[in-house]
Amino acid sequence: MRRYLFLADFHGNVPATLAMEKAIAPLGAQEIWFLGDAVGKGPGSRTTCDWVRAHCDHFLGGNWDYGIGGKEYPADDYYWNQLGPERMAWLNGLPREAELWLSGIRFRLYHGRPVEDLMTVDMDKSVLSAAFHPRGEHFGGIIFADSHRPFFRTLNDGYMMNTGSVGNSMGVPRAHALVVDAEPGRAPGPLVCSILSVPYDNEAAAELARQDPGLPFRDAYITEVLTGVYSR
Ligand SMILES: [Fe+2]
Repeated sequence: MRRYLFLADFHGNVPATLAMEKAIAPLGAQEIWFLGDAVGKGPGSRTTCDWVRAHCDHFLGGNWDYGIGGKEYPADDYYWNQLGPERMAWLNGLPREAELWLSGIRFRLYHGRPVEDLMTVDMDKSVLSAAFHPRGEHFGGIIFADSHRPFFRTLNDGYMMNTGSVGNSMGVPRAHALVVDAEPGRAPGPLVCSILSVPYDNEAAAELARQDPGLPFRDAYITEVLTGVYSR
């Protein structure tokens, strides 16, 4: 079996990212996938962007990566100044999708938006089903991020696995990731899927934001890291 880690939605939260780093070290993952949103929201986007580039093996972009990397919204100049042109070009050039065969199942990997609309665990399955059949193709599973809530759901189309968020978790304000043990490739085999839930110093993350008066939507970010309640 090969161990895969799927990490996403770091969003400039350095205490959460470092807690995740400590938690994954003993897991011995052989392949680490980044599924988008390294930056934006929190005050430490430069650090979380560099962390992702240093620690992950494969990279996909998220809506914040493209928005900030492509200078989509002038209000994001706080992040542009922090990241600089080289990081922004890297973010803007990230691929949007990938596929990965695990234990005989063809998985579609992407962040969520802007490839699909936001997908949540409580959505009607007829809506979610479309994500398994893009462009006339057929996938047996989806591994994605963007909702900031880890979940696992089984449809007739196949498995849906959401990574949750490292730095901006909704629901339970801990750092989350997805761990999959599988046989690489198209031969059918057993598959183990786990949600990794890591406590971190939420108050330290809030304090870093309090010390940075220029951070856009600062109060919303502080509430989110302390409570896990979406506040923008
Ligand atoms: Fe995100």
